[in-house]
Amino acid sequence: MSETNSALEREIGEIRRDPRALAMKQFIQHGRVTTYDHCLNVARLSSRMSKRLQSLSIRVDEHSLLRGAMLHDYFLYDWHHHEGRWHGYRHPVIAAQNAKRDFGLTNKEEAIILTHMWPLTLRHIPLTPGGLDRLPRGQMVLRA
Ligand SMILES: [Fe+2]
Repeated sequence: MSETNSALEREIGEIRRDPRALAMKQFIQHGRVTTYDHCLNVARLSSRMSKRLQSLSIRVDEHSLLRGAMLHDYFLYDWHHHEGRWHGYRHPVIAAQNAKRDFGLTNKEEAIILTHMWPLTLRHIPLTPGGLDRLPRGQMVLRA
């Protein structure tokens, strides 16, 4: 198992096999990519970026990062027919509410989901110097 795959299994293995998360396979995110695959792809990319940053001695909260990445679009509807043009603005709040209800979220994970569309979502601003999240100084969670 690759380093990326083992991190994905360790941090989000349960979530990605949960029937509630698998429900994202019903919805197309873009082209032929389902919302589930989109979120998993973002988690994979986040894991690779995390490994790279850690190799540069930059601390990354990989657990929060990967959970936030996997749940960042957990809005559970077909955005092409629901929410219309407001989807881009509203779905981070809906995804965070759903994820909190179904999986529980830390404040960091909730912030990752709420801020992932910034600057489109002006009210949910990433607040760390890296522009990445509401985290204690010296820690970083990438936006996914
Ligand atoms: Fe999104």
